[in-house]
Amino acid sequence: MEHLVSSWCNDRSLPESYILPPEDRPGMLPLGKNIPVVDLGAHGQTDILQQILEASQEFGMFQVINHGVPSNLIDEAMGVFKEFHALSAEDKAIETSKDPDKSCYMYTSSHNYATEKFHFWRDGLLHHCNPLEKYIQFWPEKPPKYREVVAIYTAELRKVGFRILEFIAQGLGLNPDHFSSELGENQILLVNHYPPCPDPSLTLGLCKHRDPVVINILLQSDVYGLQVFKDEEWIGVEPIPYAFVVTLGALIQIISNGKLKGAEHRVVTNSNLARTTASFSLNPFYETLIEPAKALVDASNPALCKSFSYKDFIIKYRADASYGTAFE
Ligand code: OGA
Ligand code: NI
Repeated sequence: MEHLVSSWCNDRSLPESYILPPEDRPGMLPLGKNIPVVDLGAHGQTDILQQILEASQEFGMFQVINHGVPSNLIDEAMGVFKEFHALSAEDKAIETSKDPDKSCYMYTSSHNYATEKFHFWRDGLLHHCNPLEKYIQFWPEKPPKYREVVAIYTAELRKVGFRILEFIAQGLGLNPDHFSSELGENQILLVNHYPPCPDPSLTLGLCKHRDPVVINILLQSDVYGLQVFKDEEWIGVEPIPYAFVVTLGALIQIISNGKLKGAEHRVVTNSNLARTTASFSLNPFYETLIEPAKALVDASNPALCKSFSYKDFIIKYRADASYGTAFE
């Protein structure tokens, strides 16, 4: 495993390999704009559907509140995520190398650490979640409550994810359960950690990307850092206590035949606060074919791309230095 940022960042100034060219540096953000917030507990399913559809079309990203996940569970989950990243580098390596098939692992910067031109100020713990009986044996056992808390947390987020996908399917005019089997049952948790950074103006936690997923449900903690790119400008995503940030991924763009777009987003760092976030994504199985939904294709709306397996998509995504942003 490459050296995690958290294992050396306290002793060093920003290494050159993290300094981005001027045009890619974050700069200052004008404040004032916000992404939509959808109240999932509101009365009126039609209103919720309409709000989700509009936010998905306009931003590809929105926040949800009153989603039904108890706040004490969110606190406990964030607690074990932070405790995990506070372990020694040695413990983290031990706790994430139990599966020879690598359903649980750690990495730093991006999956392309060895070949990328610049590094990003982020450590990540990634593991598969479903089926739980298959994967939980490979999850960290430190902190001691990790498995117990994260099993409950990911089961709750699965429900939120499918509920939102039902709304999106209906909004697209598809069967409400269009995403509910193969397209969303491969669930992955990515716990990001961005230590305090010596110079946030020169680097990024994550560069501009589209998530290689169907949909992502992010717990972003109370520290600001996420930005979404819309109409050629960056908009900051305000942390709202106990809300989730829902991001449409590159795969929904394909399945909706371009009716919806995966949001382009990035993460800025912070000079005095560490930031821990958890991305829970719904994905297809590796062999599942991804293609524009048949109901959305006809003579006047030809398929914008051919079908391909999720596995091929991931291989191509990781090999491509544009992280899905050149992808239309
Ligand atoms: C991601 C991501 C945002 C964040 O994990 O793909 O965009 O704020 N995370 O950590
Ligand atoms: Ni992302």
